[in-house]
Amino acid sequence: MRELQREHQVSPLTVQRVVRELAAEGLVTVRPGNGTFVAAAPARGRPTDLAWQHAALGGHTPPDASRNLALLEAPNAETVRMSGGYLDQTLIPERALAAAMARAMRRTGVWGRPPIEGLASLRQWFARQIGGFDPAEVLVTSGGQSALSMAIRALTRPGDAVVLETPTYPGFMSIARSHGLEIHPVPADEHGLRTDLLENVLRARTARLVVVQPLYANPTGSVLAQDRRRELFDLARRHSLFVLEDDYARDLTIDGPPPPTLASADTGGHVVHVRSVTKSIAPSVRLAALAARGPALARLRAAKTLDDFFVSGPVQEAAVDFLSSPAYPRHRREVARELGRRRDGLLTALRARLPECAVENVPRGGMHLWVRLPEGVDDNEVAARALSAGVMVAAGSAWFPAERDRPHLRLTYGETPLPQLVEGVRRLASVL
Ligand SMILES: Cc1ncc(COP(=O)(O)O)c(C=O)c1O
Repeated sequence: MRELQREHQVSPLTVQRVVRELAAEGLVTVRPGNGTFVAAAPARGRPTDLAWQHAALGGHTPPDASRNLALLEAPNAETVRMSGGYLDQTLIPERALAAAMARAMRRTGVWGRPPIEGLASLRQWFARQIGGFDPAEVLVTSGGQSALSMAIRALTRPGDAVVLETPTYPGFMSIARSHGLEIHPVPADEHGLRTDLLENVLRARTARLVVVQPLYANPTGSVLAQDRRRELFDLARRHSLFVLEDDYARDLTIDGPPPPTLASADTGGHVVHVRSVTKSIAPSVRLAALAARGPALARLRAAKTLDDFFVSGPVQEAAVDFLSSPAYPRHRREVARELGRRRDGLLTALRARLPECAVENVPRGGMHLWVRLPEGVDDNEVAARALSAGVMVAAGSAWFPAERDRPHLRLTYGETPLPQLVEGVRRLASVL
């Protein structure tokens, strides 16, 4: 160790860190009291012929996760990122989270087994946020995607029909398709789901589940209008429907306050609610809540134990600590201010450089702009060319379960500071 410090002019801490990394890679073994030794070469060779797997897996259509994967793609450092769905590092409250995690780690028993349903204090926090739900009706899950997947699978059987808004979050489509559900798209406009068209669909077909984003929908930013909320409840009652409410962006409100959750107005047990905090705190805080009542809650609880038993205790402890501290409202205010600045700056840049593109709905929250391209332009081609020109944007086609109407791009301002967004628009304009 001393020789390495001398040779490389580094501190003992650095050498220790390097040794720990080498040990993690399996290149050295540390024998306490004895020293650190070069590890023996692994005995097993890597398998070379995996062709048998093709035959064994057969010809079923594999789950299509390509749209989700595209959203999680990371561009190189020179590319301006205007696609994605989380806050960038400058907006993640790292210091407050580190302090909350450190406090959580000091708690006795933190590495033990938390309740399947989640920590009581976290369920209480979520229940208060959702409104009208008892903590006993809340399950803590590992992020929104997992909650949505669990709920869609638990509330339907393969072959059932599910209604999705169009356009909508591609994650819903991937889950529905992989579970063998038939998707009925119902258009959504700037006031959310077109309940008049939903009624037509329900008259013609039996559906079991409607998936909606009533607040700052991804991608359009729309908020479900009051009269449509009432109509949705009415349809749910008449057709015995479950309504899955994905409340993914409540904490990303820019021009507040947001309307209450759909779930808080539900008296019939129709709404199953998902509230994620990954978008507003940090993507790696893999936490969300799933709220439901009656037999649906029992099924969701059972589904949860099939998938992952329970969510990591230290993450739950740290999250409750952070969410119930003054750091959280402070963080939300900062995020709202910065997202507002970015949204407005991006709009200004678009109007100046790309007047042929239209933003029909300026969202009051969330982190995306839904930008209409001129008629006849191919959104996929624009996105591909934009990437070559150094800006990553999302082609709108991916948000449509079936045919898209007009070509759009989804531009995300949550992951990128304003000067880079302006540069991104310049690059996009050169492509268009
Ligand atoms: C509308 C919507 N719902 C849910 C999710 C899932 O996010 P998470 O699993 O991080 O909560 C996303 C992620 O992009 C999303 O855009």
